[in-house]
Amino acid sequence: MKILFIGDVVGSPGREMVKEYLPKLKEKYRPHLTIINGENAASGKGITEKIYKQFMEWGAQVITMGNHTWDKKEIFEFIDDAKYMIRPANFPKGTPGKGIIYMNVNGVEAAIINLQGRTFLPAIDDPFLEVDELIEEAKKRTNIIFIDFHAEATSEKQAIGWYVNGSASAVVGTHTHTQTADERILPQGTAYITDVGMTGPYDGILGVDRDAVIKRFLTSLPVRFEVTKNGRTQLGAVVITIDNHSGKATNIERILINEDHPFFG
Ligand SMILES: [Fe+2]
Repeated sequence: MKILFIGDVVGSPGREMVKEYLPKLKEKYRPHLTIINGENAASGKGITEKIYKQFMEWGAQVITMGNHTWDKKEIFEFIDDAKYMIRPANFPKGTPGKGIIYMNVNGVEAAIINLQGRTFLPAIDDPFLEVDELIEEAKKRTNIIFIDFHAEATSEKQAIGWYVNGSASAVVGTHTHTQTADERILPQGTAYITDVGMTGPYDGILGVDRDAVIKRFLTSLPVRFEVTKNGRTQLGAVVITIDNHSGKATNIERILINEDHPFFG
């Protein structure tokens, strides 16, 4: 099974990139499953029902989330109906939504899990204990287990990658918005990348208007962070190939599209 995963889509510039490039990426890589991290899709914070449905129309099958899951209040109205959306599984018990989804692709089942780190992020349940439980549950149905680990610290991401080495098919990091060039297959067959990078503004700071961020560093005063509009844009993604029977990853390819790294179909 080939899985295309697109990193944090930031605001309307990110959504435009998905609309333009998802068909091209599908034509080039022919993925069986497309997953998008959509936690920054609505003005950089959260997601709306309209955007969730747009992603589905444009060709995504699963949407993952992160620390901004609850930023748009309407999420509480539609998350239980958003069948193909998952939010971090280690949010406390009783939180709306779900953290794992099973997708059947041409008779082959894949489990997709969303988790969130705890280092430099709000204190939530232990992602390591949670991933143990979820992998045990998923293994009863399939060996294909894909994890979006939404976390700040590189060390925590690498730790999860090695922790599930051999039991999960892939761990892709999200949240830091800057793509890392450390994609690899760990020795027991788990595809890994610390961060897929974001899809959105290319000339902001992590997708945010750079003047505001610089002012914040210069003055420490509170400033309003807004998604950079009308500038150059980028897309960060990976394509991972997984053996259907063993669930071991056989290939991971990193994708970065921007003016300095043009897309070739
Ligand atoms: Fe995030």
